[in-house]
Amino acid sequence: MRSNQPQTIYLSDYKVPAYLVDHVDLRFELFEHGARVHSILTVRRNPQSDDVGAPLVLDGDRLVLESLALNGTPLDGDQYEDRGDQLVVADVPEQFQLSVVTWIEPQNNTRLEGLYKSSGMFCTQCEAEGFRCITFFPDRPDVMARFRTRIEADRSAYPVLLSNGNDIDRGDLPDGRHFVTWEDPFPKPCYLFALVAGDLVEKRDSFRTRSGRDIDLRMYVEPRNADKCAHALDSLKRAMRWDEEVYGREYDLDIFMIVAVDDFNMGAMENKGLNIFNSSCVLASQDTATDAAYQRIEAIVAHEYFHNWSGNRVTCRDWFQLSLKEGFTVFRDSQFSADMGSATVKRIEDVTLLRTAQFAEDAGPMAHPVRPSSYIEISNFYTLTIYEKGAEVVRMLHNLLGPELFRKGSDLYFERHDGQAVTTDDFVRAMEDASGRDLSQFRLWYEQAGTPVLTVRDEFDADRGVYRLTVEQTLPDTPGQTDKKPHHIPFALGLLDRRGQPLPLRLADDDTEAPTERMLELTERAHTFEFHGLAECPVPSLLRNFSAPVRLNYPWTREQLLFLMSHDPDGFNRWDAGQRLAVDVIQSLVGAPRDTQVEPRLVTAYRHLICDASLDQALVAKMLQLPSEAYLIELADEADVPAIHQARERVLKHLAISLRDELVACYRRNAQDSAYDLSPLAIARRSLRNTALAWLLAINDEEGRALAVRQFRDADNMTDRIGALRALVNSDYEDDRNQALASFYQRYQDDPQVVEQWFSVQAASDRAGQLPQIRALLTHPAFDWKNPNKVRAVVGAFAGQNLAAFHQVDGSGYDFLAEQVCRLDDSNPQIAARLVTPLTRWRKFAPAYRERMRAALERIRDKPSLSRDVYEVVHKSLA
Ligand code: PHE
Ligand code: ZN
Repeated sequence: MRSNQPQTIYLSDYKVPAYLVDHVDLRFELFEHGARVHSILTVRRNPQSDDVGAPLVLDGDRLVLESLALNGTPLDGDQYEDRGDQLVVADVPEQFQLSVVTWIEPQNNTRLEGLYKSSGMFCTQCEAEGFRCITFFPDRPDVMARFRTRIEADRSAYPVLLSNGNDIDRGDLPDGRHFVTWEDPFPKPCYLFALVAGDLVEKRDSFRTRSGRDIDLRMYVEPRNADKCAHALDSLKRAMRWDEEVYGREYDLDIFMIVAVDDFNMGAMENKGLNIFNSSCVLASQDTATDAAYQRIEAIVAHEYFHNWSGNRVTCRDWFQLSLKEGFTVFRDSQFSADMGSATVKRIEDVTLLRTAQFAEDAGPMAHPVRPSSYIEISNFYTLTIYEKGAEVVRMLHNLLGPELFRKGSDLYFERHDGQAVTTDDFVRAMEDASGRDLSQFRLWYEQAGTPVLTVRDEFDADRGVYRLTVEQTLPDTPGQTDKKPHHIPFALGLLDRRGQPLPLRLADDDTEAPTERMLELTERAHTFEFHGLAECPVPSLLRNFSAPVRLNYPWTREQLLFLMSHDPDGFNRWDAGQRLAVDVIQSLVGAPRDTQVEPRLVTAYRHLICDASLDQALVAKMLQLPSEAYLIELADEADVPAIHQARERVLKHLAISLRDELVACYRRNAQDSAYDLSPLAIARRSLRNTALAWLLAINDEEGRALAVRQFRDADNMTDRIGALRALVNSDYEDDRNQALASFYQRYQDDPQVVEQWFSVQAASDRAGQLPQIRALLTHPAFDWKNPNKVRAVVGAFAGQNLAAFHQVDGSGYDFLAEQVCRLDDSNPQIAARLVTPLTRWRKFAPAYRERMRAALERIRDKPSLSRDVYEVVHKSLA
């Protein structure tokens, strides 16, 4: 807690560390009433630093210093200064050993950074700046040391003691205690340190690397979760193989460990050799995990594993470079998921998240570049911009260079920087050096915030057979950035004739072997491209596969969108045409008179999607999802949420009524497979039958109701069970809703991950999740303020997904959120700051709403002793 204004940290102030730490020797004495941490640092002056007489400055947070010694001699109080958040030793030699003993209280740590307890086990979270909550240390990623860690604890309560690297020693101690010593041969920044102590079961597997080394894979979970490890371990093996094949990266230690913990601020953490996961991102069984959960687990296991190279072997120089590891690793895990399932579906999911949430971030008060230049609290910068837009930036490099040169570039990057802490600029330089391409303009993607807008115009010169396409780019202002320069943008396109055939793209008259798809490059504010030799005016298919993270404006007619929906050879653009059409239809109904017609051609198009079983069912399942309210809000200039909600509901109900029989037939055609599997087709079939159910229940269809009740009862997997539950919860059948909710809870009350889903189905529903019901959920026995997943499942789902209930014109939804943010601010500021997000978008909404959102932000601002985390978000939002 602070009393005065927190400080801003600037990239331009970066200085190399004055001291380096070569080795860290740690000894943890773990007790129920606290933990004593003995640390011996082997330190030397950094030859690279010109700060010659500098004192040694170590970071610390909430530590009780018990003793301090230099080269074995205890230091007196006048030889050092304990400033609370820093320990300063003024006179130190060129090289020395510093011994520090600190006392901490993991059992009282509700912030979940540093060392803390989660359902009886000890665990750590050190990224970004949690290591300083364990002991005094230069807590910055460019200080890389070899760690040896000895853990001592009660043997019966904590039989499993884990840390990074290899276990080199173990044994018994007096009083029923024992110890294990771990040694990690790879130098690493302290944010990759980890420790776990608990009563856990171990699941073992193994992987043989391409060079023939056998790696021990070990997964540690609480005994009740022993049967939920197989999917994560299988995913891990697939990821290990894939990284060898696609990036030539082999695993480097003899052991790779995964631990599941229930209380975790984020999804998972890539600690060297000891990845720690939020239980909800790693545990799965057919009876408890949805298809989406299975896919998320595969992606996150792969993501954390991929960090071993993109993050750990090559790490970040400072936290401004966070996207160096996160953007690249998200790109890698998305390529992996595309290879494991349907590539088109994966791309649709990524772009949906980007366009809905990252574009909103980029257009709001927290907008920042992929490589920010300042921050107050680094935890606030684990954002969609750093992760998702960062991944898009790497994808654009892949688009511009092509797969071979990109691989050459990544090989060079890993080889050149192995064992180093580097910058995004080093990454781009490796790509540049390997490809021979000049990427100086491309670097602007790391520096300029905001989403570029591409406006496309075209004309056809029938006499010359020339089609002329003009692409203009503009970049909106963002906080602290105006008058931006044009970006270097890969722009993939194709042209179709009236029968839907792809046309050769001749950029000159004599272009004989013209391809039917091109990756054009935009570098100026405006470009005009001429395509020659065309007999008729083509229909353009633009920004194929979403080749760049931009907003694209082109005045397609509804007729053209319908045409692209069924003819575009690019699966992504087929989906996108459908989305654009649905957006256009819904937008035209926002605030329109009750009797305004719903576009009949939309019904025809959806009928075709539902009935034609020869279409790619995975793509169809995605195409049937109407654009979300959140996306419609993002697209609006001044969002009137109730009007948007009503317009979308109208379209959905109109489609359901018009296609009622087709939906029942679709349900039956896709009902129950023989055996449960996770192939794209099986997932698509489950998605289709659950969409059919949801739509039928939206119009109170009695047959749909019977199907839902039966599916809820008979389902052999969680996707179907919760699909039926959700359909019932969102219906007008109040008795069925309440019965289903009660029986679901009854069945799964001992499984926290399923209870979280049960909470969020209600909190996200405009039927079951109005404010009084949300308040009731907060007093439910299974709700726990100390568990971030529960908070996200109720408060997060309400404010982030239940938009019509959250945006009440009297401001009650906003006041509720402000109240919960203030209550969490003292116990877990990281989670509190994340919960504020919906309010930060206040400028986006119609005036009556906007003012009340701002008032709620002001109420948070005025809370005494606001954390740095919430302070930054609230003050930047109000600025
Ligand atoms: N670095 C983690 C990842 O893989 C995310 C994380 C950040 C986890 C901070 C915990 C704390 O993306
Ligand atoms: Zn990551």
